[in-house]
Amino acid sequence: MKRTFSPQAQAELSEILADFPNKKSALLMVLRLAEREFGSVDNEAMELVAASCEVSVAHVLGMVTFYTHFKRPFHGKHRFMVCATLMCSIGGPQGKTDDALAVLKEKLNLEPGERTDDALFSVEKVECLADCNRPPVVQKDNAHHVHMNREQMTRLVEDLLKQEGLPSSHYAGKSPVRMDPTIPFVSVKQSIPAK
Ligand code: FES
Repeated sequence: MKRTFSPQAQAELSEILADFPNKKSALLMVLRLAEREFGSVDNEAMELVAASCEVSVAHVLGMVTFYTHFKRPFHGKHRFMVCATLMCSIGGPQGKTDDALAVLKEKLNLEPGERTDDALFSVEKVECLADCNRPPVVQKDNAHHVHMNREQMTRLVEDLLKQEGLPSSHYAGKSPVRMDPTIPFVSVKQSIPAK
């Protein structure tokens, strides 16, 4: 399905593009706009962004797969990104990466790279979240959480389960789905100059 921006997003797009001497430089901001507008960056959104910024779809795909923060259609509604870079892996008195991951396994039965079969939750290990002096750091969608010891992490997950109307043990024994980040097929139109 071909995507188009709503009139409001189109107005925002024009403002963004006006700030840059060439449209290619606005790519990250236009991707953010598309993510907000469509809920995630899927193939059709990438095609629209490519056309808006006058770059190839392959270029947009490269950007989306380089920056792990862009939400893709295969992620869960609630997306946990757990920092697994050195400072969080070593951790401190508050805990470390493995503690946060252990709670996610215990409560949601998810390992990194997996999503619940109802697509409500997903878990990933990511690189540094730029808050190295407050480990372990976890990002839940756009919210940044620091010093995520087992208690804080448990509270965060249980609150979300409650918000979704699910009991605390809902995912016990349920099989997760492996997220497939395989680069999807996207049509790339090449125009070959006459000479
Ligand atoms: S190492 Fe985890 S935030 Fe930097």
